[in-house]
Amino acid sequence: MQVPMMRRSSLNMEYYMDKEPGGFFVMLGNGKIVGSIASHVWGSVGWFGPLEVNPVCQGKGYGKALVERSVEHLRARGCTTIGCETMAGSPKNIAFYHKLGFKAMSLSHVLYKRLGDVPPKLVTDKFIRPFNHEKDIPGCRKLWNGILPGLDYSVELASVTEKGLGDIWAVDSEDGPAHAIVHTYEMFDDSQNAIIKLLVAGKNDMASAGKLLDRCEVSALTIGKTGMFIRTYDINPPKLDWFFGRGYALQGTSVRLILDGPDEADETLHISCWSA
Ligand SMILES: CC(C)(COP(=O)(O)OP(=O)(O)OC[C@H]1O[C@@H](n2cnc3c(N)ncnc32)[C@H](O)[C@@H]1OP(=O)(O)O)[C@@H](O)C(=O)NCCC(=O)NCCS
Repeated sequence: MQVPMMRRSSLNMEYYMDKEPGGFFVMLGNGKIVGSIASHVWGSVGWFGPLEVNPVCQGKGYGKALVERSVEHLRARGCTTIGCETMAGSPKNIAFYHKLGFKAMSLSHVLYKRLGDVPPKLVTDKFIRPFNHEKDIPGCRKLWNGILPGLDYSVELASVTEKGLGDIWAVDSEDGPAHAIVHTYEMFDDSQNAIIKLLVAGKNDMASAGKLLDRCEVSALTIGKTGMFIRTYDINPPKLDWFFGRGYALQGTSVRLILDGPDEADETLHISCWSA
């Protein structure tokens, strides 16, 4: 990647632990933490990440044990699709997951834009409004079910408001409330970047998606962020050209691996993926 790998902030780890209590595991070796894994539940979809084992302790079965513990947790929570994502350029990781029974699916992409190079239009669109949890969630569920039956992002939406992680914007459309989460909190210590955690709209509703993307960029610029990250799954619209046209560049590619259940369909416009 063209950006340095940074240290995760305490707030980032607390956000993971709070939204899935009992799903964050550490591996102990000689009384010290030698590895960890975070589990995430989005209704019928369960995934894990980050997963890491201290380099001097790798190859001793710790990674396998951590994945098995997280999968056990996700199955007990009723998840019917279980998977993860890893760097597409890492044969070691792909072999590791294949040995555990995971099957490689499509690619997901990490995109980055330096904010300010292409200034977003000032958002004066009266149709963009703050998300209303009480009123919007039922309409959102219909959109989420178009991605995968039982997919439920409400835990992500709630955590933004409860922990002050960023903003949630909505646009009303025929398909329901198109919505986007922009994380502007410090996911990594001293990060200058914001992240679009989630953006969902109706199948062909590129207009709402564009408005939401612009609004998220303004949210980031307003608090002094200089870059935006997006993670998007290859099979869903919008396709990569749409992001390139908006000033985003490809930073990296991951591969989704699934252990249990179906992968998502390609019916709904959807930006989000399982690599945290
Ligand atoms: C990926 C990672 C978590 C694996 O943890 P680990 O403790 O080294 O792996 P394990 O010792 O549990 O290996 C489990 C199995 O995978 C196999 N495996 C690991 N690397 C392999 C490779 N390159 N080719 C084939 N098999 C491999 C092991 O042989 C073992 O198989 P076995 O059960 O039949 O003996 C660890 O390497 C790591 O922390 N990497 C850096 C961070 C990272 O990339 N995290 C994952 C992001 S998605």
